[in-house]
Amino acid sequence: MSGHKQVFPDLEQLSHAAASALVELANRQIEKRGYFNMALAGGGTPKRLYEYLATEEFRDKVDWSRVGIYFGDERNVPQDDPDSNYRMAHLAFLDKLAIPKDNIHPFDTRLEVRRAAAAYARLLALGLPKTDSLPRFDLVLLGMGEDGHTASLFPTTCILHDDRLAASVYVEKLRSWRLSLTYPVINNAEHVWLLVAGKNKAKVLSRLQQPDAGQFPVNGVRPRGELSWYLDEASASEL
Ligand code: 6PG
Repeated sequence: MSGHKQVFPDLEQLSHAAASALVELANRQIEKRGYFNMALAGGGTPKRLYEYLATEEFRDKVDWSRVGIYFGDERNVPQDDPDSNYRMAHLAFLDKLAIPKDNIHPFDTRLEVRRAAAAYARLLALGLPKTDSLPRFDLVLLGMGEDGHTASLFPTTCILHDDRLAASVYVEKLRSWRLSLTYPVINNAEHVWLLVAGKNKAKVLSRLQQPDAGQFPVNGVRPRGELSWYLDEASASEL
């Protein structure tokens, strides 16, 4: 398990610390470059972090007009579907911040899934600064599933070997299509933060220390920049 690990007593304190660090990073990058582009993680773990960003403590500490919001992955559902990562992020914080709608870039799930992926790849290529001709995020937020997937990079799926910037993938066990950034984009980020909480993640986290860690897609997250793990005591209990 490469990268810098921080362990917090619970998800609440993990989320508050991550919100504070995110505001600090955003301001540092805005100061340096005039913008801050980040890709949001989906699922349940990051929700509390997003909610913190919309609290009085944090929401006025960032010039959100200089922030670009992208999505690390998305379910192939309408944007108002309860499973939508876009919907979760909007309800948790985007609806509550003074962030221009043009700064928010969801996957267009109205399109057929392959076309939605190709459209997102074009958006990344056109909308983000580049390093070594690949789009560069200032920050990519990720979660991790019990099977070691991250974003929608699931074990044994072809997307793990896809060199496009974004791709669609059929996930057999979920019987559903997903849309996701691929390793080349994730690993070209200046900062990647993995937010992992809950006892149900402890086993796979411990196996990331073993020689066969390569079977878990999260093990392929090796950014050119800084990799940080935000863990709670429950998920870190077998490290
Ligand atoms: C998604 C996420 C996915 C998530 C993990 C962990 O769209 O679901 O991108 O990769 O981060 O499945 O999900 P939880 O945070 O809900 O455990």
